[in-house]
Amino acid sequence: MGRDYKGRLSAYRCIYAFIFLLSACSLTSFLLYSGRCTSTPGRGQSQEWEAAGLKPNPSTSSRPTIHLLSFQEAWNHLNFPPPAGRPRRRIMRIAVFVKKWAHASRAGGLERHAFTLHLQLAKMGHQIHIFTTSPTNASSSSFSFPSLPTLYFHFSRPTAAGYLDQSTVWNQFHAENSSGAGPFDVVHTESVGLMHTRSRNITNLAVSWHGIAYETIHSDIIQELLRSPEERPAHSLTDRVPKVVEEVKFFRSYAHHVATSDHVGDVLKRVYMIPEERVHVILNGVDSEIFRPDFVAGKEFRRKIGIPDSKSLVLGIAGRLVKDKGHPLIFEALKQMIDEDAEFRESAIVLVAGDGPWGNRYRGLGPGSVIVLGPLEQSQLAKFYNAIDIFVNPTLRAQGLDHTLLEAMLCGKALLASRLASITGSVIVSDDVGYTSPPRVESFKRALYRVWSDGRQVLEKKGEVGRQRGMVLFTATKMAAAYERLFLCISSIGKGDGENQCQYKDPSW
Ligand SMILES: *[C@@H]1O[C@H](CO)[C@@H](O)[C@H](O)[C@H]1NC(C)=O
Ligand SMILES: *[C@@H]1O[C@H](CO)[C@@H](O)[C@H](O)[C@H]1NC(C)=O
Ligand SMILES: *[C@@H]1O[C@H](CO)[C@@H](O)[C@H](O)[C@H]1NC(C)=O
Repeated sequence: MGRDYKGRLSAYRCIYAFIFLLSACSLTSFLLYSGRCTSTPGRGQSQEWEAAGLKPNPSTSSRPTIHLLSFQEAWNHLNFPPPAGRPRRRIMRIAVFVKKWAHASRAGGLERHAFTLHLQLAKMGHQIHIFTTSPTNASSSSFSFPSLPTLYFHFSRPTAAGYLDQSTVWNQFHAENSSGAGPFDVVHTESVGLMHTRSRNITNLAVSWHGIAYETIHSDIIQELLRSPEERPAHSLTDRVPKVVEEVKFFRSYAHHVATSDHVGDVLKRVYMIPEERVHVILNGVDSEIFRPDFVAGKEFRRKIGIPDSKSLVLGIAGRLVKDKGHPLIFEALKQMIDEDAEFRESAIVLVAGDGPWGNRYRGLGPGSVIVLGPLEQSQLAKFYNAIDIFVNPTLRAQGLDHTLLEAMLCGKALLASRLASITGSVIVSDDVGYTSPPRVESFKRALYRVWSDGRQVLEKKGEVGRQRGMVLFTATKMAAAYERLFLCISSIGKGDGENQCQYKDPSW
């Protein structure tokens, strides 16, 4: 879907040039018959334009204008160049509600998103007010709370369940909203940071979802199939569908929704029945200055941890080494391959980065086959990605959009991951960038054997294609530029320049 957009745009350019020629040629007949001929494009075409969220501009009949709020694909496909030559960027006051503030390298997807996005927006000059829970000792390092003059923190004690205390943050928010600095231009909540009971009447608000109940059903099904006979079925099997219904009911209390994957965008519109012009897809992004190809650093990393030159395939696994990230599956698949195939055992090696109970089990596979590195800081992690031939992520968590895949992709590495809708719909969209497998031992084994037989050259090619795509879609700067534009747009609705901010013209036209 998304990747076709550029192609379609250039197709439109051709069509437009063609129509122009056609109208020039038919000018004579138009004059002669001075009747039925009209200058608007054919019916079939205008329907196509609408489907793409594009509208031909009748006054110039040149480049198409996109109405951003009804644009159906990921905003990451669009270009938002900085306002060079134009008047200075409009500075916004932005209120952010996030349950927990944590540094990107030691956090789950939601916290990473909150950190990366709002730091970037603060660097762009916007005034960012973060309403979050007081830090625990472990997370209160100075690095987690960068001192930027545009970044403000408002702390409160979490509720017993670990949520933001709604009445406290609401008071903090109102105090700031009515302060001398002026009201907020836009409110952003990471998931239910600000609950629906409070969000209801705020029109200049966007919520970003990092896991909704409907997509979690897929994880529930996978977990149930993997359950051993002596384990009891999980509660979630019976609770999940009522939860979806509950979400369908309260999601409408949020004015604008940001889906972090194409799949969730579709579910919000189709299953949750939220009007299309209130659902926007902005895919996650990661820091492209940290995560980039570095051949020398990769080679050095391999040398340092002692990978012999005889190894012709280096597989990489990273993240929390826990059950629901699929480690039991990939562990079993690797174990069987190491046991049954001497050639695989000789030529392949697995690097495992991260923390968790499965670390020790991986160690048990033997130092000739697996090297367990423990948790790595971001800069080390970037070297790790550069040291491997393919990044393997067997996750069973269908929620959100996995950041590690994006990091590996920006480092130019091929990917192998579980066949989950967020991944196949937004990241590994074709064989050109990697492999996907159903989350079962047999299937992963087959995929791993295929990776092995394809070999380094094929993997390098896939990594290169993936990097090209990743640099367009998955950088933190692209993500922040898309959010900035969304916030400018929804904060200007009903004000003078609303039309301008919500309309988009392709700058490369
Ligand atoms: C944080 O540190 C203080 C003293 O430095 C200690 O009393 C408190 O228990 C710590 N809290 C947590 C959550 O570790
Ligand atoms: C913030 O203040 C502005 C200006 O007083 C007001 O119009 C707006 O409703 C306030 N926002 C909320 C969510 O109360
Ligand atoms: C939203 O507006 C309705 C109707 O004006 C009002 O009854 C309700 O209290 C408001 N809710 C919040 C959370 O401000």
